[in-house]
Amino acid sequence: MNRFQSLFIIIASLFFSTWLGIVVYSYLQLGHLKSLSTSDGLFPLQYSGQAILGAQVYAANGCMTCHTQQVRQVDLTRADIERQWGKRPSVPLDYLRDRTAFLGNTRLGPDLSNVGLRLANAQWHYQHLYEPNIITPDSIMPSFRYLFRMQKIQGETSAQAVCLKGPHAPPPGYEVVPTEEARNLVAYLLSLKHDYDPSLPNQAAEK
Ligand code: HEC
Repeated sequence: MNRFQSLFIIIASLFFSTWLGIVVYSYLQLGHLKSLSTSDGLFPLQYSGQAILGAQVYAANGCMTCHTQQVRQVDLTRADIERQWGKRPSVPLDYLRDRTAFLGNTRLGPDLSNVGLRLANAQWHYQHLYEPNIITPDSIMPSFRYLFRMQKIQGETSAQAVCLKGPHAPPPGYEVVPTEEARNLVAYLLSLKHDYDPSLPNQAAEK
């Protein structure tokens, strides 16, 4: 066997063992996961169509560069739970409904796994996305104003108009409303909740 053949065999076996470890092993470990059927319904809860579109806005705006979606395990868990980022550590089942799991690896901002439980008010999110400093003075989160539009008030103020005061208020006679992208994004954020008990017996499996 010449040197090129040996080199080829070494490289091919490296790729093969990595594929076995990452793809096949993970599939064998997690490929069988199914929604948990309990007397309270199926978990994790399904996303609405609006929330699925919102996940794309989340990805397109790079929210996962600063936010994780994983309540950490073991020794580190207590800190995450004390910060009220979740009631329990994340489990693989939590990601079953996600086309892309936005695990993230940097926490410049809080973990968002359960932000829909913690902050359940759409108006709060609109204000915060429009200008994070209104809610958290000196926040380093960028403003996502381009997900909103300013429009002339026609008769009555829109029910979705963002409540803005002081320097961020629109000129008199105008209002700031969320675009469809912002509404989808907030629907996604509000649906991020993992408060079911994954250790409950799966009633579907028992039948
Ligand atoms: C440059 C980093 C950065 C990026 C990018 C970023 N954030 Fe943040 N985010 C933060 C920081 C820091 C905070 C904490 C201060 C604050 O509340 O503004 C925060 C707070 C939040 C909170 C409040 C969480 C809580 O528990 O108080 C939400 C919700 C949020 N961000 C959503 C988003 C979304 C959605 C995007 C993408 C559209 C995004 N963030 C992009 C840094 C970032």
